[in-house]
Order: sequence, then structure tokens, then C-alpha cells
Amino acid sequence: MGNNGISVTGLVCSVVFFLLPLHSAYGDVSYSFPEEMKRGSVIGNIAKDLGLEASRLSARKARIDTEGNDNHYCDVNLSTGDLIVAERIDREGLCGKKSSCVLKQELVLENPLELHRINLHIQDINDNGPLFNEEMIDMEIGESAAKGTRFLLEEAHDADIGQNSVQKYTLEINENFVLAVDSNTVQLVLEKELDREQRHGLKLLLTAVDGGSPQRSGTVVIHITVLDANDNAPVFSQAVYKASLPENSPLNTAVITVKATDADEGVNGEVTYDFGHVSEEVKKIFSIDRPRGEIGVIGTIDFEAVSSFELRIKAKDGLGLASYAKVIIDITDVNDNAPVIYLKSLTSPIPENASPGTEVGIINVQDRDSENNRQVRCYIQQNLPFKLVPSIKNYYSLVTTGELDRELVSDYNITITATDEGSPPLSSSKSVQLSVADVNDNPPVFEEQSYKAHVTENNKPGASVCSVTARDPDWRQNGTVIYSILPGEVNGVPVSSFLSVNGDTGVIHAVKSFDYEQFRSFKVHVVARDNGSPPLSSNVTVSVFITDVNDNSPQILYPAPEGNSFMTELVPKAAHGGSLVSKVIAVDADSGQNAWLSYHIVKSTDPGLFTIGLHSGEIRTQRDISESDNMKQNLIVSVKDNGQASLSATCTMYLVISDNLAEVAELKDVSYDENNSKLTSYLIIALVSVSTFFLTFIIVILAVRFCRRRKPRLLFDGAVAIPSAYLPPNYAEVDGAGTLRSTYNYDAYLTTGSRTSDFKFVTSFNDNTLPADQTLRKTPTDFADELDDSEGSPKVGF
Ligand SMILES: *[C@@H]1O[C@H](CO)[C@@H](O)[C@H](O)[C@H]1NC(C)=O
Ligand SMILES: *[C@@H]1O[C@H](CO)[C@@H](O)[C@H](O)[C@H]1NC(C)=O
Ligand SMILES: *[C@@H]1O[C@H](CO)[C@@H](O)[C@H](O)[C@H]1NC(C)=O
Ligand SMILES: *[C@@H]1O[C@H](CO)[C@@H](O)[C@H](O)[C@H]1NC(C)=O
Repeated sequence: MGNNGISVTGLVCSVVFFLLPLHSAYGDVSYSFPEEMKRGSVIGNIAKDLGLEASRLSARKARIDTEGNDNHYCDVNLSTGDLIVAERIDREGLCGKKSSCVLKQELVLENPLELHRINLHIQDINDNGPLFNEEMIDMEIGESAAKGTRFLLEEAHDADIGQNSVQKYTLEINENFVLAVDSNTVQLVLEKELDREQRHGLKLLLTAVDGGSPQRSGTVVIHITVLDANDNAPVFSQAVYKASLPENSPLNTAVITVKATDADEGVNGEVTYDFGHVSEEVKKIFSIDRPRGEIGVIGTIDFEAVSSFELRIKAKDGLGLASYAKVIIDITDVNDNAPVIYLKSLTSPIPENASPGTEVGIINVQDRDSENNRQVRCYIQQNLPFKLVPSIKNYYSLVTTGELDRELVSDYNITITATDEGSPPLSSSKSVQLSVADVNDNPPVFEEQSYKAHVTENNKPGASVCSVTARDPDWRQNGTVIYSILPGEVNGVPVSSFLSVNGDTGVIHAVKSFDYEQFRSFKVHVVARDNGSPPLSSNVTVSVFITDVNDNSPQILYPAPEGNSFMTELVPKAAHGGSLVSKVIAVDADSGQNAWLSYHIVKSTDPGLFTIGLHSGEIRTQRDISESDNMKQNLIVSVKDNGQASLSATCTMYLVISDNLAEVAELKDVSYDENNSKLTSYLIIALVSVSTFFLTFIIVILAVRFCRRRKPRLLFDGAVAIPSAYLPPNYAEVDGAGTLRSTYNYDAYLTTGSRTSDFKFVTSFNDNTLPADQTLRKTPTDFADELDDSEGSPKVGF
């Protein structure tokens, strides 16, 4: 019967460590491995075990995170996906006597945010041997002690757990004592009565062994003194005392009082109390009142550090006989820890086009208290386009709930508040700054729907015409506006040869000098483009109107300029006052007032004989022609326009008062060259006079006879053809609003002989040009008078 050799189950300790991932839930992975592995040892391949691509780990910023402020015990090799040991892992230091030691670590991945819990089950290795509290145990036993009496011994302690903790005690072979071991206690059992006369004392070696491999052991010497008298050891009223104590109890709080009685009288019955085998830490927290047995608080009681204490108490009488009892103190939780919010991951800035529901951050909330005191509710302030979505236990995703617009709100200050359910509840908050990144979602917008520019013709090339502005609220280059002119043509000429725009400022410059007589308005499209990629743009129409300057002198079409051909007007001698004898025809390339022509006779042979219509240019006799009138009449006519600083042109009109064409032909040379010798001219005059006299005589006779029947009001046989129609004027409606500007009211009233005109009108590309008949309707009254006058005149034609 091996009473002295007690073995606990599983003596054969085949400690085979296995590294094996235990998938518990989606996203969770567990590894089981022994403590004290070397740094850098591979625990497992987490990428493979979680089904992640090892090559993407780096891009996804895979990292190991921990709950609270725990250390990083492992790391992930981003190139292989191996989980490796990063810190010394000492099971005893981390978990003490707890039967299971689990370290919680987290693998965090971004893009998309993903979180995996890693549970590291740390297995014990036999790195600690059994230890007795003292090197020697002193015992005093009366010789009268009966066979079978049991004496409690202090157990040995082994920091390891399970098989690696104390498994067996052995006692040195002796005749008096054997060992009795049950799960809680180690006792010496008296097998043969002691005899003081035979032996005063004896020493026994007690050995404790663990079940590790290799096996470790510890020993203690039990020194037994055999006593004479019939002594009694103190007896505790209970083998186990239980007490409960709230954490944070103040100093000197009485926890429990233990009581032991001793049957002896006097000194032998005086019991004192002390701690048995307890750790130094416990001695800093609890004290025991030696005479009274009251256990009191002398240190800080923190449930979160230790939730239960087991104290061994010793009662000793005056002779030194001792007995032991156990005190179990359960600490109760008080809500003394506020929740702690950890921001595990944050994507900031987030692009403004992130769709609702985009995860932007992961939050973990921890409360070190227990039960209700650690139940936490987490929320953020209202009126933000974000919400917290509970994820795995105590994890929350921060997701967007609506569209973001950087142009409205570019930064968010999100305050996360966590409240536990203790009473009173504790809460804490954390603010998270989140910025919104720009996306090129706004095209530049012109400040006006269209632009108009008025430019006076003959401008300097390079002069600024107008400026356009477009705004783009996007950020930096996405909001940087660049202006350009859309390629196009005006009358077949590229617009770029007319205008240029400053790409940065939007100021539009004329490239060349404009000529109103060439064109009066044109349109270009200016594009505003931002610098984003892809860029956004918008365009606007810029209408350029050229205003006229009086830069063209009137041009006289009839009579033709001197030297070109000699033209003479024949005035019948019978012409009455008011007869139309000729007409000066002039045009002016300008428009409006600048082309409104007036005619004046500046010099004439006989000032009283002819007048000229101020606006019509018609030359009429002022009175009837008389015989005494000089046959040759020269008029110098000046044609002026009505521009500011008016321009003018002059011409000479040769008139011959005669009824005979032949006379005119002869006169031609004379008129043409007035500087011929006087003799020649006199000869010619004499000759002409004679023939004229003769001819006149005949004509007068004939005329008198003729005129008796009917006297014609006008006899006209001119070489001039006066057109009955006006040319269609280039009449532009400038404002586009139907209102006429005064300068344009008299737009190009040109009278011209179609036969003689060498003036080419530039047909306007402007669609707004009105046909001639419409223009006439708009004729102002004074001009209408003029027209009425001419209506009174006979129509002339070929
Ligand atoms: C990751 O593993 C590779 C291959 O085993 C090794 O070369 C590299 O040094 C490791 N990196 C780290 C940071 O341990
Ligand atoms: C964010 O809000 C918190 C709490 O309202 C405040 O203390 C903090 O100053 C704010 N931070 C910014 C940048 O506005
Ligand atoms: C401009 O917008 C694009 C997307 O359209 C974005 O990628 C870029 O970062 C933005 N630039 C700035 C300076 O915000
Ligand atoms: C100019 O803008 C109009 C509408 O705003 C658009 O339809 C047109 O395509 C634009 N033209 C160019 C060349 O961008």
C-alpha cells in the first residue's frame, strides 16, 4: 500500500506541443503554442489561415493590435504572412495559476477595413520546480499522541500548472510517520506512537515532484520535537472561511475574524494568529491582528487586478503547536473604470465621392469592469453624415450615411461617446478629426451667361477687349481655371487671329486692329477648364461689337475724278429755274453720322445760277437761263460727312449751257486746258460764237414755233444716269434688342450710279442686317422730307 507515494492522474507527461489554428468564428483564429519561445519563432501562417493574400498584406497595412495597453506579443511578417513571436511570453508572469492562458491580439487590415481576432493559447512548459515556503518545518508533537493522529503540513508550490505543477509528495522512510495526501492537504499520519525516552526528536525529508518532463522537485526538512506534556494544538472553528469585499474598500476595513480554540490552560492555551504561506503581494494588502485573528485591509483592493484571494492562516499556541485554515476573500466589482475608446483605424482624408455606407474607421471600446459595469453603449453626435455600426463584440465601424461634399464641409470633428451600464454610469469620449478629400466634381462656372464687348475700330493690337471670370470651388488644381478660346472661324479666318485670352486671368485681347467697314461684330466661345484629371470645362459666348470711327472720307463717284475722263454736263438754254441739271454722287464707307453726307457748292462761275441739294447732291438751276449767262459754268462741290471731325472731298463739275452737242465737244479742249494761249482761245471762242449764233438762231426760230404749242418744263439730255433706287444699306442692328443707336440711324444712305460705281460693299455676315425696304421705313422725318422732294422731281432713267 503506497500511502506515501500519491500520484495525480497523468504521470506520464507526454507534453507534445502542437501549433494548430482553431477557427472559432469568422475572422477569428487561434493558435496554441508553448511559452518562452524564442523571438522570431513562427507561430503559424496567418495569411493562409485567414485566406488572405500574403502579397497584399503590405498594401493593406496589416498590423497586430492589442486590446487596451497590452504588449504586442506577436508580429506579422508582411512578406510571408507568418505570425512570429515578438516578445518573451512567460505564461506564469501573464496568467499565474490560471488554467488557461489566452492572449488576445488583433490583426487589422485596411482597404477594406478588416479585423481578425487572434487568440494565443499559451501552453505551460515545466520551467518552475516545486518550492516549499521554508527550508525547515518545526513541529512539536506530544508523546501521548495516538496512532492515526494527523498533522497538517504546508504544501509545496509550483508556478507551473497542470502536469507541470506538484504531482506527488514522498516522505523519507521512517518508522513513525506516513504521508496522507488528498487534493487539498498534505498530512503526516502517526503510524507508531512516539516515545520521548527513546528519541527526543527526529528529522524527515519531504520531497515534492511535479509531472513535467524533465521532472523537477523541491524538498523541505520536517523537524519533529517530541514533547513530554499532554498538549493540545489550537483548533479553527472552520476549515475554510469565506468573505466578500468590495474593491476600493478603505484602509482598516475589517474583512473577517478567524477563531481557533486551544484546550490547554494558561500559556499553552494562548492562541496567536499569523499568515501561513502567502505571497508578499498579499501581505501588502491584508494584515492579521495577531491576538484577535481579525483580517483587515492595509492596501489597495483592485478587482481588475485580483478578483479573489486565498490566504492560509496559522493559529499557534504558546508551546508552538500550530494548525492551519484557509480564508477565501472574493472581491466584488465596483464601477470604477470608465470605458476607454480606442481608434483602431481611420481613413482620413476620405474622398468626397465616397458612397454612403463607406467604412472610414474602426473603434474599439473597453471597460475593465465586469458584468453590467462593462456593458458599453457607444454613439456619436447627431447631425453628422456618419454612424457607428456595432461589429464584433465591442468593435464598431464608423460608416458614412450620406453624400459628402468637400465644398460644403471639408472637416468633421466626430465625438464618440461611450457609456457603461454601471450605477452610476461612467462615460468617456474621444474626438476624431476626419477630413474630406477633394474630387473634381465641379466644372468652372462663368459669372455671366454671356459676355459683350464693344471695341472701337482701329484699336491697337494687343488692347484688352474685356475679361471673363469663371469660378470653380474645387481644391487646388481641381479648382484652378484655365481660359482658352475655342477654335472657330469668322468669315473664314480663324478666331485666333482676332482675339487671344490670357489663360490665367481671362482677360481677352485684340490680336489685330479691327475695321468696322470689314465686319461689325463677331462671336467667340471662351472655354474655362480646370486642371483636374479628368478636367471639367464650360464655355461662354463672347460677342464683340466693333464701333465705327469716321475714318473714311466721302468718295465721289460722279463726276469721275479729274484726269480720268472729261465729263461735261449740258444745260439746255431753255432750262427754267429749278430744273435738275446734274447730280453729285458720293458714298462713304463709314456708317451712321459718319456716312451722312452733305453737299455744298464752294466755288462757282456764277454763284447765283446753280444750287445743290444739301443731302441729295442734285444740282438745279436757281433761275431761268438767260442769254447773258456764261456758256461755260464750273462748280466746285464739296461733300462732307457728319462725323466728329468730319471728312470731306471735293469735285469739279463742268456745265455748258448749250443746246448743241457739237459745241460741247469743241469746248472740251478749251475747258480742259484753260491755259492755252489766249489767241487760240479767242479764235475758238469767235468760231464757236459764230456757229453758236447761227445755230441758236435756227433753234430759236424752231423753238419759238415749237414752244407755242407746248413748252417742256425740262429738257434733259445729260450724260448722267441717276439711279432711281437706293442701294440696300448695310444696316446692322447692334444691340440685338431691337433698339437703334442714334449713330446707326442714318446708316449708309448711299446714292450711287450703278454704272459708275466701283465701290464694293462688304456684305455683312451679320444675320441681323435688314433689307432695304425695312430700313426705309425707319427713315427719320427730315430725311423723309428729302425723299418727298425728290418724288416731286421727275423720274429719270435711260
Ligand atoms: C519575413 O520572412 C522572410 C522570409 O522568411 C525573411 O527573409 C524576412 O526577413 C522576414 N521579415 C521580417 C521583418 O521578419
Ligand atoms: C472637436 O470637438 C471636441 C469636443 O467637442 C473639442 O474639444 C475639440 O476642440 C474639437 N476639435 C476641433 C479641431 O474642432
Ligand atoms: C482632384 O480630384 C481628383 C479626383 O477627381 C483627386 O484624385 C485629386 O486628389 C484631387 N486633387 C486635389 C488637390 O485635391
Ligand atoms: C459648350 O457648352 C455647351 C453647353 O453648355 C455644350 O453643350 C458644348 O458641348 C460646349 N462646347 C464645348 C466645345 O465644350
